[in-house]
Amino acid sequence: MSGRILTVAQQKGGSGKTTLSAHLAVALARKTGEPVAILDVDPQGSLGTWYEARENTFGEDNTGLCFRTASGWGARREARSLARSHGFVVIDTPPKTDTDARPAIEAADFVFVPVQPTPVDVWATEQTIELAAREKTPAILVMNRVPPRAALTAEMDEAIRSSGYEAFASRLGNRTSFAASMGQGATVMEEAPSSKAAEEMDALIKELLARID
Ligand SMILES: Nc1ncnc2c1ncn2[C@@H]1O[C@H](COP(=O)(O)OP(=O)(O)OP(=O)(O)O)[C@@H](O)[C@H]1O
Ligand SMILES: [Mg+2]
Repeated sequence: MSGRILTVAQQKGGSGKTTLSAHLAVALARKTGEPVAILDVDPQGSLGTWYEARENTFGEDNTGLCFRTASGWGARREARSLARSHGFVVIDTPPKTDTDARPAIEAADFVFVPVQPTPVDVWATEQTIELAAREKTPAILVMNRVPPRAALTAEMDEAIRSSGYEAFASRLGNRTSFAASMGQGATVMEEAPSSKAAEEMDALIKELLARID
């Protein structure tokens, strides 16, 4: 078996990398039924903290995921090793992609780039995209924390389109259920299955699976 390695990266701090990593991993496991591993290469260890909360909430043997950490170039080896026994490996990376996230981007089949619809966030994205391009890894943007009815979102949409970057049509709204579910070591699919947030994740995963197949 050689699973897909999906790295979530974005130079800009607080863009939603950890939230997306957790949500992607659980959604992929639920949707495909394949074994999924998550790999935290961020020294902040937020994904690991989420995973501990998940063990408390669901039980150590019922998280539905395999969790590992790695640092530096160890990330590449660990990701490739996990991909031999998992259908998907989702890697959460730290901000400041140039040093720390590079091996994870290099090892990836796809880089998933969360971006909030503001000019500063869109500017920061360029660096992440360029790094992925240098490593010859396809990168796809996903708009995250999109506020309802903001003129700025449409402007940022246009900025992304004219930059030529690939972006998912599906986007995630600015919804407290994403943040709240993470606190329980869970996801919106588990904590709020009929919410708008869960619907958005479902659409995103369908689009992602169609793109990577
Ligand atoms: N779609 C969303 N709706 C509402 N809140 C969100 C959403 N996505 C992320 N958040 C919140 O935004 C904050 C930053 O998210 P997160 O920690 O996932 O970002 P990050 O990119 O991993 O940050 P860092 O760069 O520090 O690793 C958190 O408080 C999280 O709960
Ligand atoms: Mg993070």
